[in-house]
Parts: sequence; structure tokens; C-alpha cells
Amino acid sequence: MTLQQSLRLSHAEAQRVDAPAGVEEALAAQARRSQPKRGGSALTIRGLRKAFGQNEVLRGIDLHIPAGQFVAIVGQSGCGKSTLLRLIAGLEKPTAGTISFSEDTRAEDIRVMFQEPRLLPWASVLSNVEVGLGRDRQKADAKARAERALGEVGLADKRDQWPSVLSGGQKQRVALARALVSHPRVLALDEPLGALDALTRISMQGLLDRVWNDQGFTSILVTHDVSEAVALADRVLVIEDGRIAHDISVDIARPRKHGAADQAALEGAILRHLLGDNH
Ligand SMILES: Nc1ncnc2c1ncn2[C@@H]1O[C@H](COP(=O)(O)OP(=O)(O)O)[C@@H](O)[C@H]1O
Ligand SMILES: [Mg+2]
Repeated sequence: MTLQQSLRLSHAEAQRVDAPAGVEEALAAQARRSQPKRGGSALTIRGLRKAFGQNEVLRGIDLHIPAGQFVAIVGQSGCGKSTLLRLIAGLEKPTAGTISFSEDTRAEDIRVMFQEPRLLPWASVLSNVEVGLGRDRQKADAKARAERALGEVGLADKRDQWPSVLSGGQKQRVALARALVSHPRVLALDEPLGALDALTRISMQGLLDRVWNDQGFTSILVTHDVSEAVALADRVLVIEDGRIAHDISVDIARPRKHGAADQAALEGAILRHLLGDNH
């Protein structure tokens, strides 16, 4: 376990002792404790290149992400953010270079969440979450695990609904539960909140922050929203011309508050990088 993870755990424990909450909260905390906690996987990318025909999209990415880190990736539209995420998730093959994960990381330990929820319209909310279990869906505890994941995103009461009756934000919460149900070690998020209204976005950011804190997976978030990147991430990467042009650590204590002065200053600096220095 990394120091960062152990600090996170002890912080969570301390909160539980300080604030004896209702029975429901206590049960939820107990459920969280009883879940297997394998922690995040580190990943190392070396000399990564990706071309589509003549179009050289990624031109040499070198990057190490420690286990459990929350990394945000920003950059202009078409700069290769989704391509990088797809390569990390194994949905695309590199033209050159390597991507390696911590030992004993399996393909199913890496999950992706997209901007569209991609739910099965003919399946209940609970069944949609069970899909995320893959082969484990046949196991006796599949339903209980899906219920727990739905509880984590605050949608336990929607288990028997059809996706079509849910709001956009609720659908994305189901998609998040489907991604989390298997307890991934790496969660790759491709603008997952991009289609949501501003207030729903902010509450979803809070949810993402909480589940990441609880579960300790490595989080890689592509976003076009610099304030989202600064609110959530330990580190923000700016991609430009197929390379990592800036690697910025976000040394701002959590919980972070939207509109706080130190966050706004960092957002301004990152935006200037994105727009070029003459803005
Ligand atoms: N499967 C593909 N086939 C051909 N070109 C692609 C494919 N996927 C992405 N591209 C091209 O790669 C570039 C980067 O795309 P993408 O990674 O989606 O950018 P971003 O997510 O940063 O907006 C674009 O020029 C896009 O057209
Ligand atoms: Mg994209």
C-alpha cells in the first residue's frame, strides 16, 4: 500500500470515529470495509506512439502514474486524449511503445466510462450494473454485489426501473456503478460528465471523488473542463502536438471547493497553457 493510500484510509477511519452517523451510514461503511480492497494499479507508458494512416496522433508519450493517483488529461479537441485512454484500456493497439501495469493486473481490472452511459434499454437498472461483473455474473453473489454498487452511487431504490425513466445524471451514475461493481484497479473516464448540466456535474464530481477515495483505484480522467480537472485530480497533464506538454501537480488539500482562490489561480494557469501564451 502506498503512503497516499494509507493516509486516505486512516482519514476515512478517523471520520467514522469522529462522526457517529445513522444506522444506514454505519452499514454502508461496514459494507465498504468488507469489500476486497486490492488498491489501484500503477502504470508506466514508454515511447508510446499512435498513428492512423498518415495521421500521427500520439508522438512519444512517456508517463508513470503511481497506484491510486487521480490524473486528469486536458488538451484541445482532436489532440489524442480519447486515443490515449483507449490505448490504456486496451481498446486500441499502439503503433510503437509500451504500456505496463503493476504485476498481477488483469485486463478486467481496467474499466472505462464514456460520455454516453451505454446502458442496455431492455434490461433493468440492476441487470445493467451486473453486466459490469463479466464472468463473475454467474456467481451466487452477483446480485448482492450489483446492489451494493448501486447503493454506492445512491440509486439503490432504482434497481427495478428501466434506464429510459432515469435522468441523464442518474444514467451516468448507473454507468459508474457498472464500472465499479468489479472493483477495478484502474478507472479510465472519457469526459464522463460532459453531457450533464452544470449542477449535476458538480454533484457527480463529488461522487467520483468519494468513490475514488473509498476504493483507492487509479483514476485517469479526460475532461475539457479545467475546473473539473483541478477539483478532482492530483495531477493535470496537458497534451499538445501528440506529447505531454505540461505535467502539473495539484497541491491543493481536499476536500476542494469550487471557486476557491488557489484553485481558480491554477485553473487560469492551465487555461493559458491550453490557449497558448499570447492569451
Ligand atoms: N479509429 C480512428 N481511425 C482514424 N482516425 C482516428 C481514430 N480515432 C481517432 N482518430 C483521429 O485521431 C485524432 C485524435 O482523436 P481523439 O483521440 O478522439 O481526440 P480527442 O479525444 O483529444 O478529441 C483525430 O484526428 C481523430 O480524427
Ligand atoms: Mg475525445
